[in-house]
Amino acid sequence: MFRSAFPEIKTLNLVMRRVKPEDVVFYNTLSDPETSRYEFWEPHRTYEDTQDFLANIFKKYEKGIYFDWTVERRSDKAPVGMISFHDIYPLHARADLGFWIVKKYRNLGYATEAAKAMIDYGFSSLGFERIQSLCAVENAPSVKVLEKAGMKKEALLEKYVRLNVDRSKLSDVFMYTIFP
Ligand SMILES: CC(C)(COP(=O)(O)OP(=O)(O)OC[C@H]1O[C@@H](n2cnc3c(N)ncnc32)[C@H](O)[C@@H]1OP(=O)(O)O)[C@@H](O)C(=O)NCCC(=O)NCCS
Repeated sequence: MFRSAFPEIKTLNLVMRRVKPEDVVFYNTLSDPETSRYEFWEPHRTYEDTQDFLANIFKKYEKGIYFDWTVERRSDKAPVGMISFHDIYPLHARADLGFWIVKKYRNLGYATEAAKAMIDYGFSSLGFERIQSLCAVENAPSVKVLEKAGMKKEALLEKYVRLNVDRSKLSDVFMYTIFP
């Protein structure tokens, strides 16, 4: 179900392609606390954190697990963000979709364009029967993207996770879902 050659996915403006070792400088933008404000993974503190992050992706690639893509702009080959499937349950044909776009490339529709393409790929090629995404209730841009990508708010999960924005408390998140 989930193994194939690395799938490169093209849209009008973007290509979702393999993460490469030379992307390390780009991925070091994950040291910017703003990008991970509404995430539970911590910002990268050192360059080594970013190298470890990529090494972990490459280990998965070696096993034929291809669920992490660099989002690249086709016009100038600029890496603009990342999109991934995570928490994948083959038995339940279900996965979570996660994404981020670096600040200078935001509000250009790229996250929405990438999310739509990956949802399509997840249903048509990977056989998922449910794609979901958790989103902090305060994360208005992400709510927008999920809704523009056709996902529906399924639930409010109260006190669900500690987010970087305030790790002293448990935060509420929305569960967004989409079905084939
Ligand atoms: C969420 C994120 C990926 C959006 O990326 P993007 O490429 O800018 O998204 P898009 O351009 O496709 O759409 C963004 C939408 O949010 C809207 N938006 C931006 N800031 C907003 C705000 N403060 N309040 C409400 N809407 C806002 C934009 O106007 C746009 O909607 P529109 O097309 O109706 O005008 C990006 O902000 C990001 O990387 N954030 C940090 C990481 C993150 O939160 N990831 C999601 C985890 S679930």
